[in-house]
Amino acid sequence: MTRLRLADSATVREGEVQAVQADGTSLILSRIGGKVCAVENKCPHFGLPLARGKVVDGTIRCPWHGSRFDLCSGKNLDWVNSVAGLPLPQWSRSLVAMGKQPAPLRRFEVSEENGTVFLLSKS
Ligand code: FES
Repeated sequence: MTRLRLADSATVREGEVQAVQADGTSLILSRIGGKVCAVENKCPHFGLPLARGKVVDGTIRCPWHGSRFDLCSGKNLDWVNSVAGLPLPQWSRSLVAMGKQPAPLRRFEVSEENGTVFLLSKS
């Protein structure tokens, strides 16, 4: 199996995210409960970058329309509920979603060895 170096372990800190490039794909690295996780830095709503979103308890909230995702599993936890941080009334959420259905983030397998984080495979 080929491995691709992503980052120094020390730069991946608990409660923070780090955007890195891997073979032309932008990823978000995070450390949750000591484990390093990687998901694609691309919101499934409009494909916009997520890395500047708010990180809380192992989740990240999209800075554009508020969708929230688990940073390790990529699971969608909330879908389109705001615009630039301003809450949307329930009736208008489907308008802003523009027909896009809730979807998870693409997840990547990583390992941490000798102070370095590696990408193992794309899943
Ligand atoms: S681009 Fe992320 S919720 Fe719209």
